[in-house]
Amino acid sequence: MSKYIIRGGNKIEGRLDIRGAKNAILPIIAATILNENKSTIHNVPDISDVYVMIKILESIGCKVDYKYGTLVVDSSNINSMEIDEEYVRKMRSSIIVMGAMIGRLDYTKISYPGGCAIGSRPIDLHLKALKQLGIRIEEESGFISCYKDKLVGNTITFEFPSVGATENTILAAVKAKGITKICNAAREPEIEDLQNFLNKMGAKIKGAGTSYIEIEGVDKLHEVEHAVIPDRIAIGTYMVASAMTGGKLEVDRVVVPHMEPICDKLRDVGCEIEYTKEGLILKSPKTIQAIDLVRTAPHPGFPTDMQAQLMALMTLANGTTVFYETIFENRFMHCAELIRLGANIKYITDNICMVKGVNSLHGAKVKSPDLRGGASLVLAALATKGETEVSNIYHVERGYENIENVLRNLGANIYKVEDIDKIKGY
Ligand code: UD1
Repeated sequence: MSKYIIRGGNKIEGRLDIRGAKNAILPIIAATILNENKSTIHNVPDISDVYVMIKILESIGCKVDYKYGTLVVDSSNINSMEIDEEYVRKMRSSIIVMGAMIGRLDYTKISYPGGCAIGSRPIDLHLKALKQLGIRIEEESGFISCYKDKLVGNTITFEFPSVGATENTILAAVKAKGITKICNAAREPEIEDLQNFLNKMGAKIKGAGTSYIEIEGVDKLHEVEHAVIPDRIAIGTYMVASAMTGGKLEVDRVVVPHMEPICDKLRDVGCEIEYTKEGLILKSPKTIQAIDLVRTAPHPGFPTDMQAQLMALMTLANGTTVFYETIFENRFMHCAELIRLGANIKYITDNICMVKGVNSLHGAKVKSPDLRGGASLVLAALATKGETEVSNIYHVERGYENIENVLRNLGANIYKVEDIDKIKGY
């Protein structure tokens, strides 16, 4: 297994140039399936989740070219209606292709994604919404078969504003007959980016980014070119790295409303944040202040995808912070690893914990439990006295483009030790 070796203590500072958002590009790649033309997407992050989506597209007959951050997909010929189980097992969010596949084809089959490390992650809301659009769904032996008996607009009200279910519904509704109305839609910025991409392709969608979305079905789509929004979570992660190590970070490009839920908390911690013409500048606090309560919530609340990284920062705060994870039931696995690095964390319940700041952390051998949890360990390691080994870094590579190079360019002492078996090609 590959790992990072990190010698903490250096300030993380300088200019950060960040690529597109993982959570925007994945549904956008799925959306290219709907198009019977060429889709060109810029600012695509070089992360392993993108390669899983590329493999899915290739497995159904799309021609894909990806270089220098630009992805070109020709989806004019689709020759398979089924998505190989292997991909869904590798990346749970590949379920997002379901809406696009049934929007384009009369039938599709995909394996049930099942649970994952951070929680059970059911897809009942996705399936209910597709049924409301007229899709017949049969579930058998862990597979979902979708039949397009008809595809007609309807009013869909989500019990919970699920990001994936909102995206799957939009994708299926783009070519439905009539108008689809989504109430209590997720408001995450990545959904707005999906809307913008689809509208450039000829879809008629309005309201994404708010809790009410309206989609007027269209028959035909056309060639499209689009640049993905900057990754607010990756930016937030590097901002924490800087704040933890006493650095100053300049970020070249941000979308201010996307960053505010994260910046708001970092200001509470004592960071000074100034928005510039296109980006922002973060100055780290002299003393890291604890926050009474960090409660994750759907956008525009504090994102669950930043909970672990903020917790790493709070391990060094002056005071005690309570973390309340409301989105996923099992998203505290990084706590045990942070404790190995010297953090003082007490579990109250499965989704509430208390972090009492300590004066310093120390190096240790730790394992990434999941993507953001792994990032939190890298952050903590940057602020330790001593050397830390972070293993299971394939989790981190799912969502951060070349994190070791980015951090090294910002002053970190970090290098990656490649898995010897991987190098030999076993
Ligand atoms: C997306 C993001 C993920 C982020 C999450 C919440 C992508 C690729 N992933 O995941 O990084 O952490 O949003 O911001 O964009 N739920 C159900 N039934 C469903 C669907 C969801 O009960 O049919 C529950 C989930 O178990 C979870 C909560 O709703 O507890 C939120 O899930 P959801 O918003 O759907 O997250 P994802 O789309 O999976």
